[in-house]
Amino acid sequence: MTTVASPISVARAEVPNDLAALWLPFTPNRAFKKRPRLIARSKDMHYYTPEGREILDATAGLWCCNAGHNRAPIVAAIQRQAAELDFSPTFQFAHPPAFVLSSRIAELAPADLDHVFFTNSGSEAVDTALKIALAYYNVTGHGSRQRLIGRERGYHGVGFGGISVGGMVNNRKFFGSLLSGVDHLPATYNPEHQAFTKGEPEWGGHLADALESIVALHDASTIAAVIVEPMAGSTGVLPPPKGYLQRLREICDRHGILLIFDEVITGFGRLGAPFAAERYGVVPDMITFAKGVTSGTVPMGGVIVRKGVYDAFMQGPEHAIELFHGYTYSGHPLACAAGLATLDVYRDERLFERAKALEPKWCDAIMGLRGLPNVLDIRCVGLTGAIDLAAIPGSPTLRGCRLLEHSFHEANIMLRISGDTIELTPPLIISENQIDEIMEKVAASIRAVA
Ligand SMILES: Cc1ncc(COP(=O)(O)O)c(C=O)c1O
Repeated sequence: MTTVASPISVARAEVPNDLAALWLPFTPNRAFKKRPRLIARSKDMHYYTPEGREILDATAGLWCCNAGHNRAPIVAAIQRQAAELDFSPTFQFAHPPAFVLSSRIAELAPADLDHVFFTNSGSEAVDTALKIALAYYNVTGHGSRQRLIGRERGYHGVGFGGISVGGMVNNRKFFGSLLSGVDHLPATYNPEHQAFTKGEPEWGGHLADALESIVALHDASTIAAVIVEPMAGSTGVLPPPKGYLQRLREICDRHGILLIFDEVITGFGRLGAPFAAERYGVVPDMITFAKGVTSGTVPMGGVIVRKGVYDAFMQGPEHAIELFHGYTYSGHPLACAAGLATLDVYRDERLFERAKALEPKWCDAIMGLRGLPNVLDIRCVGLTGAIDLAAIPGSPTLRGCRLLEHSFHEANIMLRISGDTIELTPPLIISENQIDEIMEKVAASIRAVA
């Protein structure tokens, strides 16, 4: 017979006393449970362990908490909203915060990207954008356009759509044949030409021309959309080569292909502008977002679409549903309240401008790690950076695992590790002294696993 713990004692427990039941995502569970990295509290630039140890957050949680942690106005807005309206559907009904937030997001987006479809995560945002692209060509009489084009090394979340267009091998190879009709552009990274570049590399703009070859192979009449991260984040921070995104846009225009920017990481200030589309002066047809929209406080994602895309669906009888798609929690009131308060913090504290102003200092500081043991390359753009370390021969990812353990338990810093690459994406409220502190702690951790 199974014994059930009293819900009261569970609710009151300050630290978990049994790690067995939880299956952690994207985590080596058995190694983790031998020496867990537990977080109990957060404030501004820091996390705190259950025993009160202060951990400097060099990852904004998971590229999420751009406004820093537990910011008073955001906390208060969530509390107020919970007391006012807990939930209302957005299927056939709606509530004021959902309208206000979509208007605020549309105002931040470039050009005529002026309609917002809400989801609860980046993965859902990506699958939504891909479905809108396919449906767009159906409703406009071009149903043969069914192919979706992604890019090698791309990360677009974990839905079947996202892993099909994504290009990170381990995220794909265990899950069958995925969506049919997908093709991939080559990755934009080449260490021979780009190693230790600050910002966007000079070399590589021509790699966008691979889209012409894909079009030549399949014919434009079969291709609905191309999706890329303007800056590939999860694969290890790959800023776009100069001119690359402009060339993609030109080729898409030439062949009537929709261009989707996955801005789940780059949106909301990470690259020193509301969206990377603005930094690079390229207007996509759709932008996916998540993470920073609520500074990570309440799950939310979404897709911003151009007017022409939205308008194409607003045909036919007015009583008919135009898009058979949506999530129960699309535009959840708590997420909307959190989003509105977060956008206020970004605006009032000028955090996007702050990220831009700090970029030179940030890039100089991270490049200062060049020459440490096993450092193969360093990349940076906006308030984002990555350091590639040489793998331990025969044991890829082991050095990364050891470094994560050391950095958390000994150096009191939270980093993101992808294989043997360290990824750094601090909250945008970071001070110049804290940038130096991050680099000192990272340097100590790199030395410790040499
Ligand atoms: C570019 C990009 N797209 C999609 C996602 C998936 O977002 P989520 O984990 O919220 O589903 C991520 C997550 O890191 C991402 O970086």
